[in-house]
Amino acid sequence: MFSSIETSGRRYIVRRSGIHGRGVFALVNIPKGTRLMEYIGERITHREADRRYAAEHEHSPHTMLFSVDDKTVIDATRWGNSARFINHSCSPNCEAIEEDGRIFIETTKKVPAGGELTYDYNLVLEERHTPAVKKAHACFCGTRRCRGTMLGSKR
Ligand SMILES: C[S@@+](CC[C@H](N)C(=O)[O-])C[C@H]1O[C@@H](n2cnc3c(N)ncnc32)[C@H](O)[C@@H]1O
Ligand SMILES: [Zn+2]
Repeated sequence: MFSSIETSGRRYIVRRSGIHGRGVFALVNIPKGTRLMEYIGERITHREADRRYAAEHEHSPHTMLFSVDDKTVIDATRWGNSARFINHSCSPNCEAIEEDGRIFIETTKKVPAGGELTYDYNLVLEERHTPAVKKAHACFCGTRRCRGTMLGSKR
């Protein structure tokens, strides 16, 4: 039988975003605390991620890598799902939760239908987070509390 979006069970869709490129948007109202998807991709070492992307990252902050811990990076350009299109926001409505080395995206607020799903990338680089490096990772989330960069604070 045919089913509408409301009854088909799809809760989000990938489409163009005002923040950057493509983003992921809610198709229905999604309650706070909903686990929406896993961040899927090829699991590789940091060394392998550098081998694949260090040269590219010299020129662009664009990445589809999720750093799980000291050992593992998820490369969502290979075998990735919709999670790889979730943009960063400084006032996000989702968070990335680590469980046994796997990453899950969960809402931290109620997200209305049509709202863009975001989480705080909180990127931490090996190099110093100088003003120039922060600028090279400029944030376009456009929220009132935007800190101007996708970088987080170094611990
Ligand atoms: C996992 S991708 C997200 C999907 C991306 N919009 C796309 O179309 O490929 C992550 C990249 O998107 C861009 N991005 C995500 N959120 C951003 C933001 N708030 N401001 C600027 N660029 C952002 C950055 O280039 C970042 O490395
Ligand atoms: Zn921002």
